[in-house]
Amino acid sequence: MNQVAINLVYIASAACFILGLKMLGRPESAPRGNLLSAVGMAVAVVVTLLSRDILTFEWIAAGVALGSIIGAVAARRVQMTAMPEMVALFNGSGGAASLLVGWSAVAGTSVAGISTLPAFGLSTVVASVLIGGLTTTGSLIAYGKLSGRMNSAPVQLPGQAFLNILLVAGALAAGVMFVLDPVVGGLPFWVVLGTALVLGVTTVIPIGGADMPVVIALLNSYSGLAASAAGFAINNLLLIVAGALVGASGIILTDIMCRAMNRSLGNVLFSGFGSTSGGTAVEGEARPVSAEDTFLMLEAATSVVFIPGYGMAVAQAQHVVRELAEVLEKNGAEVKFAIHPVAGRMPGHMNVLLAEANVPYDQLIDMEDANQMLPRTDMAVVIGANDVVNPAAREDEASPIYGMPIINVDHARTVIVMKRSLGAGFSGVQNRLFFAENTRMLLGDAKASLSALLGEFKD
Ligand code: TAP
Repeated sequence: MNQVAINLVYIASAACFILGLKMLGRPESAPRGNLLSAVGMAVAVVVTLLSRDILTFEWIAAGVALGSIIGAVAARRVQMTAMPEMVALFNGSGGAASLLVGWSAVAGTSVAGISTLPAFGLSTVVASVLIGGLTTTGSLIAYGKLSGRMNSAPVQLPGQAFLNILLVAGALAAGVMFVLDPVVGGLPFWVVLGTALVLGVTTVIPIGGADMPVVIALLNSYSGLAASAAGFAINNLLLIVAGALVGASGIILTDIMCRAMNRSLGNVLFSGFGSTSGGTAVEGEARPVSAEDTFLMLEAATSVVFIPGYGMAVAQAQHVVRELAEVLEKNGAEVKFAIHPVAGRMPGHMNVLLAEANVPYDQLIDMEDANQMLPRTDMAVVIGANDVVNPAAREDEASPIYGMPIINVDHARTVIVMKRSLGAGFSGVQNRLFFAENTRMLLGDAKASLSALLGEFKD
């Protein structure tokens, strides 16, 4: 294929990515958006393979087969609750791929050949190795913390910030030396590669497990930047565009998550959040309630808002709650699901679970709409959510989560909280909602509690 035809196909693929990303913004169009982007990528891969004399087709087929088997087995085995660490591994693979692509752009080149490369091309090789390397090891640490293979507490050493600044300065200086005197096996190249790998560890290890999803969004953005740099290094238009899209959308997502927690990115990266709990101690007595009594309240309610959280994912209660919602609607109640932007452990976690259970999109409402609706709602039913409904975020200035926007479930007439204990949520902050006058605790596994309620309705 000639280069013009290839570039035209690349532009069509890039258009698929952009449209696909736009469609991902709404739950109704998200599956089609995902498919459109995948088609764009498949076409781009085929055209790249047909057009370039990259490797023999036997090697390519072996690589595709091996990657497909690993991907299919991993995707089938992964639990929904383990999705964030899976995403961490994906980011790490993206970073490693960009590192290798950048490296390979100069690896086979002779000394005479490499010195004819423009300084800009060599700089993009340095950028892809540096950002790709950092993303690789940073993602592995994020994976370790999220999967419980490593202690998720922040590890903060004295002088850590200074060490990181020193490493960045060393990597940049070595990068400049490489551009001025490009020898692939030379010391500056190895210094760039080595410091990049060390930086990934030293920048992610001081961050607590609670903040890992934000770090993953940031690493996702880095993997895009590394891919874009690799695209410049091998002069591939589509890699440049696709990498830039991932880089930009990753940073937007990082910003959305930081805002939803009312924290700055600097605070997430450097504060060691999660190492201590805090806030004013909560006093009072929680009022337990039985499934039978909850059923009587729900039967009489004309409006019910479900607020799902991480516990719904753990209990895999999404299907039962959808069934209960249908029963309540048949009983004449208006039913909504209020979704907090950081409920669960990854962006869109609750949306994915509820979509899997076929909850109609028009029943989903965001935090702002929920907070307008709750003061005139009969019952707010919290399913395994904790931090995202903790009034301490609104009322207790001493609390580490003070200022985080929450779903004001305590403004509803009656609140039912389904969880297994009175324990704290992911932030480690005690929840004063459990002791409020209008709250009743339905203690136990969320799926078991919802099934018991459903059983009462069916009886
Ligand atoms: P959490 O505050 O993590 O609380 C989840 C609750 O679920 C726990 O308190 C737990 O209580 C309960 N639970 C666990 N297993 C359960 C089961 N089988 N049945 C019933 N309940 C169960 O959840 P949240 O309100 O969704 O808040 C999310 C937290 O993660 C926030 O702090 C947020 O900032 C943080 N975070 C999220 C993201 C994203 S992108 N979602 C990103 C960064 C940080 P028991 O053990 O007593 O049952």
